[in-house]
Parts: sequence; structure tokens; C-alpha cells
Amino acid sequence: MGYSDESIVRDTSELTMLLAEHGLVVVPGLIRDSDSFIEFVQQLGSVVTSPFLSEVVTGTGITRLEHSTSEGELRASGGIVFESGWHNDATFLEEPPAISILWCENAPEVGGDTVFCDASFAMTSFSDQFLGFLRTLHGVHSSGGSFSTSGAYGVNQVFGATPRWKDETGLQAVHPAIVTSPFSGDECVYLNPSYTQRLQELTHLESAQILELVFRTLFMDEHLVRLTWHDRMMVIWDNSRIAHRAVNQGVVGTRRMLHCNIRMAA
Ligand SMILES: [Fe+2]
Repeated sequence: MGYSDESIVRDTSELTMLLAEHGLVVVPGLIRDSDSFIEFVQQLGSVVTSPFLSEVVTGTGITRLEHSTSEGELRASGGIVFESGWHNDATFLEEPPAISILWCENAPEVGGDTVFCDASFAMTSFSDQFLGFLRTLHGVHSSGGSFSTSGAYGVNQVFGATPRWKDETGLQAVHPAIVTSPFSGDECVYLNPSYTQRLQELTHLESAQILELVFRTLFMDEHLVRLTWHDRMMVIWDNSRIAHRAVNQGVVGTRRMLHCNIRMAA
């Protein structure tokens, strides 16, 4: 995890360098308000508009994630919190975002952390033989398991965002199981349990078991960093290399975040 100050606002090449080195950059306190956040993200490249969430300001690609759900409320409602499953952002798109950004407008008093997984570092936990096998495979990614009416956000009561799902099929894209980070040039496992439905070249039974093995290895504690939010903290990460999930047990207070995805030529 890297840290930065105002230099990344003055010079985006500094950000590119930090992303290559660390994959994930924390910028505490620099962005003071939502207007400054909008201004900052717009200089980075073209924003990716969410197919499922409303924008805070039309054309900015920025969405607001907000909830103040206690563990008891969550349990009583049978609900889930948006983005509580592991994922890389929007891998169901043909061209997923290169960069994802969260800015904390209001941190809860307790809880609401985000956990990040370095899928490049995790490569070291697989054997060369197994990685050779993975390099021959492609993941079939779909928004259907999360955003369709029969998906996780369609079936459960959702806290934190209001997805607009449209159909049962969802958006679908096929990507290599291992990709190269546009920032570091290192290989990363590019499969996630929220959107990767199967491995294209395998039978469904083989695919389910190989994916389970991959996810058990990928999300081992050794590959993770857990971040506690503070007001006005911003985190920027390489969306090819870093998977993430929100941890929402025991949240006290309101967690309000602005989120943006960027399609940027590295
Ligand atoms: Fe996300």
C-alpha cells in the first residue's frame, strides 16, 4: 500500500508511478469536498458510467454509496450490503475500468472497512504448473449473478446503493484468467466470485472446482490489506491487480462514499 500527498493532484504521472509500485494508493485528507473529488477524477481519463447505479452529477460517472445499517438490522431484514462480495469493478464490461477510486465523504464511527487483495502478489502462492494451466483459460464474467432480478442484489434487500437491474441475462464479457497490469506490467489472477461465472474452456463441474481453489488461494489473509476509513480519505487502485470487498458487520454510524471508475491509458 502506498501513500501520497498533494503531488498526485499536481502531477498524474506520480499516481501512475505509485500504482505501478504498490497497486493501491491512499491519499488521506487531501480532497476536501465532493466538487474537488469530481475535479480530481476528471483529469485522470475517461470515466466509466455505471450501467446499474445513478450518477451523483450526470456525466461525471460518480456514484454515491451510503448506508447506516447495524448488524442487527441487516440480520433482521435478511439483507446484504452492496459490494460485500469480492470483486474487481465491472469485469462484466468488454473494457473494464483501469482505475477505481473511493473517496470517504463520511466515515462511520465503527466498522465499514474495505479489504483489498493483491492478485499480483497472490501469484506467488500458486505453482508454476498451475499458473501455466490458468494462462490457457478465460473467465466468463457476467453482471447477472449480482444485478439481475434473480441475482444477489435482486433477491436480497440491498443496503448501500440502489441498483437498477434490467434483465436476467446481464452484461457479459470474456477475459483471460491471468492478465497483465497496465501499470506494473506484472501478471495478476483476474477472476472474482461476484462476476466470474465460469471458466470458458472447462466443464461446469471442473470450472466450479477450479474457481473454488483459485478463490481460496487468492483471498488468503497473506494477500490482503484491511483499510479503516476516515473522513476525506481517498483510495485509488489498479483494478486489474486489486480485488476488493466491503466489510459491513457491526457498522455504527453512517458510511457515505463517492465512487468512480476510470478508463485510462497507462
Ligand atoms: Fe467495487
